[in-house]
Amino acid sequence: MRTTVGIIGAGPAGLFLSHLLHRRGIDSVVLERRDRSYCESRQRAGVVEHSVAEALRASGVGERMDRDGFVHEGIELRFDGRGHRIDFPALTGRNVVIYAQTEIVTDLIARRIADGGRVLFDAEATDVEGIDTESPRVRFVADGSEEVLECDYVAACDGFHGVGRSALPTDSMRCFDKGYPFAWLGILADVAPSCDELVYAHHPRGFALHSMRSESVSRLYLQVPSDTDLGDWPDERVWDELDTRFALRDDDWALRRGPVTDKSLTPMRSVVTEPMQHGRLFLAGDAAHIVPPTGAKGLNLAMHDALLLADAFTSAHTDGDTSGLEGYSATALRRVWRAEHFSYWMTSLLHPAPEGSDFDRRLHLSHLDHIVSSPAAATQLAENYTGLPRV
Ligand code: APR
Repeated sequence: MRTTVGIIGAGPAGLFLSHLLHRRGIDSVVLERRDRSYCESRQRAGVVEHSVAEALRASGVGERMDRDGFVHEGIELRFDGRGHRIDFPALTGRNVVIYAQTEIVTDLIARRIADGGRVLFDAEATDVEGIDTESPRVRFVADGSEEVLECDYVAACDGFHGVGRSALPTDSMRCFDKGYPFAWLGILADVAPSCDELVYAHHPRGFALHSMRSESVSRLYLQVPSDTDLGDWPDERVWDELDTRFALRDDDWALRRGPVTDKSLTPMRSVVTEPMQHGRLFLAGDAAHIVPPTGAKGLNLAMHDALLLADAFTSAHTDGDTSGLEGYSATALRRVWRAEHFSYWMTSLLHPAPEGSDFDRRLHLSHLDHIVSSPAAATQLAENYTGLPRV
């Protein structure tokens, strides 16, 4: 099998890249080890940055997002028993769209298939070879038999544990990482959201986030110790803890409860692999970087990588101009490190450290108070949250 760009992974990065390349007349093949329904139902992020929403629309896959997603013009920071709104358009002129990653993946798969794209499900890449040559290859297994995808370029969009990242020569790459001493316990519940916008709550017992997937589905998270056993968290305990952390002092606001349809644990970590390329292999999305979910940047970074790579492949393939490809990693990493810092900053701002002292707690409250009372500080949050403009 032969193609111009061999893409490993049918997550948002791989699918969006394949879609963008198709629009520019460049052939690609996407190899995905899971089946289609698994990819379309995997619960992940749900906040789409302003410029990513615009890019989806501009490439003709924003219709369902604009119909079913929610434009959010702010978030609430809740601490010390009070809520404070951060108004995005007033501070930055931008907003975000609440639309689940799983829906973006569903839209992109449908579109690739309607456009005659080759997305091979149940096809697991096992090796990437010849990245220092002009004809790299991806070995993969489909239907129990070994096959080879010959390409001009390989885009590894296969997540952190994918084969793409491990094909980079170890002596020329560096991995930067940071762990956090807590995780997120997330639930998906069949109940209308209890608020119109996302609520980020800082509480002495830990952070909590109220988010939503639709008018009838709520997504809620609790900061928990990293070694938490989900078996210790029956639904009632989760709801009670959420109630405590979201409680307002002078308000009878109450959290709506409903049937819990999914419960999961998300570890928190930050990782960056540098450079994001070697020879004819290019990494995009989680394959190159991981952020803790607090800043809602994982999905958006993956989409920005795809946009950059699509431009770079187009220039190389159509005009023979390889400068975009040569500079891909350096260009992408500017946004990546900004998002890494913002995600770390939001995480540190909102999560009390398990070993934190009373002094630390006072610092936290002072920091939060500064953000909600200083337009300059609030703008910094809003600018990063809604996403910096495309470079
Ligand atoms: N062969 C084929 N497919 C593979 C292989 C392999 N060897 N290894 C992994 N994959 C597939 C996975 O099954 C998955 O569908 O690669 C895809 C990677 O998709 P994502 O994990 O969604 O990664 P990405 O597209 O970079 O999107 C990043 O996902 O984890 C979230 O918060 C993160 O929202 C961000 C987004």
